[in-house]
Amino acid sequence: MKLLVIGSGGREHALAWKLLLSPRVQHVFVAPGNGGTALMAHASNVALSDPSALADFVQRENVRLTVVGPEAPLAAGVVDTFRARGLAIFGPTRAAAQLESSKDFAKAFMVRHQIPTAAYQTFTDPIAAHVYIDERGAPIVIKADGLAAGKGVVVAMTLGEAHAAVDAMLGDGALGTAGARVVIEDCLLGEEASFIVLCDGQHILPLATSQDHKRLQDGDQGPNTGGMGAYSPAPVVTDAIHQRVMREVIEPTIRGMDSDGIPFTGFLYAGLMIGPGDDASRSIKVLEFNCRMGDPETQPIMMRIRSDLLEVFEHGVACSLDRARIDWDPRTALGVVMASANYPGTPRLGDAISGIPDAEPDCVTFHAGTTIRDGTLVTSGGRVLCVTALDDSVAATRERVYTVVDAIRFDGAQFRRDIGWRALEAR
Ligand code: AMP
Ligand code: GLY
Repeated sequence: MKLLVIGSGGREHALAWKLLLSPRVQHVFVAPGNGGTALMAHASNVALSDPSALADFVQRENVRLTVVGPEAPLAAGVVDTFRARGLAIFGPTRAAAQLESSKDFAKAFMVRHQIPTAAYQTFTDPIAAHVYIDERGAPIVIKADGLAAGKGVVVAMTLGEAHAAVDAMLGDGALGTAGARVVIEDCLLGEEASFIVLCDGQHILPLATSQDHKRLQDGDQGPNTGGMGAYSPAPVVTDAIHQRVMREVIEPTIRGMDSDGIPFTGFLYAGLMIGPGDDASRSIKVLEFNCRMGDPETQPIMMRIRSDLLEVFEHGVACSLDRARIDWDPRTALGVVMASANYPGTPRLGDAISGIPDAEPDCVTFHAGTTIRDGTLVTSGGRVLCVTALDDSVAATRERVYTVVDAIRFDGAQFRRDIGWRALEAR
C-alpha cells in the first residue's frame, strides 16, 4: 500500500524509513520531504503543504494512511480536513493540538486536571508581567504562548533577563502574535526526559524512553536548539518512574482531554523535569506538551522498533491501540545531529555535503535540512543530518556514530561530541 508522511525533517525521514521496512508498504510519499527522502528507494517527495491539496493528492493516489510529523500542519487543521473526507490520518485535531500550540491552554488544562507542572500566570499586559517577575524572583521562565519554532522560551537566570524577555515579547512584538501573550512560570531543576506515547482517544501505547540534548555545545552549554542529539533508552526513566509518569501525567491527560470533549489522537510528547531524590520521592513535572513526536528523539526510537510500524498506526486510526504492541530492541540507539554554520541563528545554506555512507540496518544517516541542487546534495536548513546507530552499549553506539560523523564533510558543520553523556555516567 501507499502511505504519506507530512514533514521535511529527520523525524520524517526516520518515519518513512521505518514504514518502508513493512512488507505491506510499497511506497511512501513525503510532503515536502528533503534530500534524503528524495534519494530513498520506494519513496518520493511531494511539493504540497495546504491541507486540502494534500487530501486531494491522497484521494488521487489512493494513499491508505497519512502520518503527520510536525506541529504546524496539525495546528492548521490537517487532521480535521482529512477526517471530514473520511481519509485515515494519525494525528490530533486542531483543537487537541492546542496542548502544544497554546502554552496557556496547556497550563490551564494541567491545573484543571491536577497534572503536575510549574506554578505560573499568563499575561498580555507588560506592566503586570514585570510586577509578577519581581514578586517571584529569578531564576524564572518566560514562554511565548504560541508556536515559535523553539525560540519562544527564555530561562532567565536574572531579573534583568526576565524583564528583557517580557519587553521583547509583549513590548516589541519580537515573536509576533505567538508572543503577544506570555506564560511566566517557576524555574524547575532536575533532569529532563522525553516521554512519548501513541493515543487513539481512549487507549495509550507508550514508546521507548528517550532523552534529547537541547543546547548547542558540549556540556549542555550555549543556546537552546531544536535538539542536537538523542538516545534511547533514557536511564533516568526507570521502571518505577515510568509507572509514575503514566499514572501521574499521561493517563490523567488522556482522560482529561476526553472529558473536556476533545479526545486526543496521535503522538503525545510530554517534556518532563524529573527532580532530585529516589524514584518514589523525585518530583515529576511537565515542562511542555508536544502533540507530535520529537526530533531528534524519533530517529533513535525508530531504530529500536522491531515490530511492523504500519500495524501500530492502523490500530491508532481504528481506535484499537489496546491490541497493538511494540517489540523493542533492548540495545541503545543514539543519534548525533550535524547542523549548519550559524545555527541556531539564521543558518548558512547551500554548502555541499559529502562522505555520507550507505545506510545499514543498524546505522543510518537521516537527513533534515538537505536538498539536491544541480545533482549535488547541499545544506538547506539549520539541522542538516542526524547520524543514528544501534549497538550493544552506549559507548559502542557512540563510537560507531562518531566514526560516521567524522567522515561526513560540509563547510561550517557544527555538532556535539558528548551526546549520551548522562547515559554513560548512569551506567
Ligand atoms: P519548552 O519548549 O517548554 O520545552 O522549553 C524549552 C526548554 O526550556 C526545555 O526543554 C527546558 O530545558 C527549558 N524549560 C522550559 N520550562 C522550564 C522550567 N519551568 N524550568 C526550567 N527549564 C525550563
Ligand atoms: N527535540 C525536542 C522536540 O522535538 O520538541
